[in-house]
Amino acid sequence: MNDPGVGLNVRVDMPAPPMHGYDVVVGAGALDGLATRVRQAAPAERYALIVPGDIVGLHGARVLSQLRDGGLVVDMLEFAAGEAHKTRAVWASLTDRMLELGLGRDSAVIALGGGVAGDLAGFVAATYMRGIPVVQVPTTLLAMIDAAVGGKTGVDTEAGKNLVGSFHPPRLVIADPLVLRTLSPDELRGGLAEAVKHGAILDADYFAWIAGNAAAILELDAPVLEELVSRSVRIKADVVMEDPLEAGRRAVLNFGHTVAHALELQAGYRLRHGYAVALGMLAEAAAGEGCGVTEGGTMERIAETLHRCELPTSHDIGSVDGLLSIMRLDKKARRTRPRLALLERIGVCARDPAGSWTFEVPEADLTAAVRRALHGGEVV
Ligand SMILES: NC(=O)c1ccc[n+]([C@@H]2O[C@H](COP(=O)([O-])OP(=O)(O)OC[C@H]3O[C@@H](n4cnc5c(N)ncnc54)[C@H](O)[C@@H]3O)[C@@H](O)[C@H]2O)c1
Ligand SMILES: [Zn+2]
Repeated sequence: MNDPGVGLNVRVDMPAPPMHGYDVVVGAGALDGLATRVRQAAPAERYALIVPGDIVGLHGARVLSQLRDGGLVVDMLEFAAGEAHKTRAVWASLTDRMLELGLGRDSAVIALGGGVAGDLAGFVAATYMRGIPVVQVPTTLLAMIDAAVGGKTGVDTEAGKNLVGSFHPPRLVIADPLVLRTLSPDELRGGLAEAVKHGAILDADYFAWIAGNAAAILELDAPVLEELVSRSVRIKADVVMEDPLEAGRRAVLNFGHTVAHALELQAGYRLRHGYAVALGMLAEAAAGEGCGVTEGGTMERIAETLHRCELPTSHDIGSVDGLLSIMRLDKKARRTRPRLALLERIGVCARDPAGSWTFEVPEADLTAAVRRALHGGEVV
């Protein structure tokens, strides 16, 4: 790709067609070159810019005029922000609107927003006229380092989150850390938990770097954010390239997530995902230590880093038994026993003797681990 000079590119290659490779451009100010990059990576007659209502004023209008000034024909389609709107009904209204506007197979979608916008607009692109290109322009830290990379798109249903969807890799991802200045500190910290996870599973240097740079990250220092986003994207991209359809190794990205999902469900989704992941990593590190898979002291090291990142390290769990029964129903659980992605130590994932990247942890060990890790006010 002809690089106008801003930032750090990460290339995501795919092993085989029909999935194609793409660039993730990370750079403070990268949004300024958006029209040129979009035209190169996803040439189309017309574009649908899909944006949640709450960022239309913050970033949408500027991006729209920038794209139009760059000579692209763009319609902006707004939807109501928030997870509650990542639904088939909103997918239907967006695709209906595109049909009314007469967008054809020679169109493309640009998703501007957090992970909700990326998943929803990605799914619109995956299904519209049997699939048109999508460019992801993530505006939350979580979307930059996680949702926008890897090609998973979809919507939620009454039965659960992300149950209807498709693999539809983007043609391009543009992550401009300057847009994070309008994000709430809570949202930023939530995304940071996923970066800590990336270091914990695959890169001990990066893990230490996050701990050492936590203050600068939380102060939104632009060069530090560029490094954070590009290092995390590199890690996620490496895993995705090896396992694009989530057949095996991609499970390591679920470290912390089995417990996190149960905590989120138990809290009726009033617990922020990233905060649940922070707590989940502690519990799953404790579980790994408890069954002799994870090096002793790992949970403490994670807790120290989370603390520097101003992420939670303890939690008021309602009941450990209740949490465990929620975990039994987790969609990744086989035969009702939860399977966890575990660490060998910081920076290295564990693999069981049969070659699987997930482990069946006996329920008694898991209960003890949750008690040890989340020493909030448990009601037994
Ligand atoms: N596809 C994947 O691989 C993948 C991976 C992880 C998460 N996800 C999905 O991502 C979603 C969560 O994403 P999220 O945490 O980005 O939440 P989100 O998209 O709901 O964004 C949070 C809120 O912040 C607003 N916002 C976004 N950018 C902003 C900015 N720069 N300034 C001010 N406000 C801004 C959003 O409009 C929204 O109201 C979930 O639906 C999850 O399932 C997908
Ligand atoms: Zn997550």
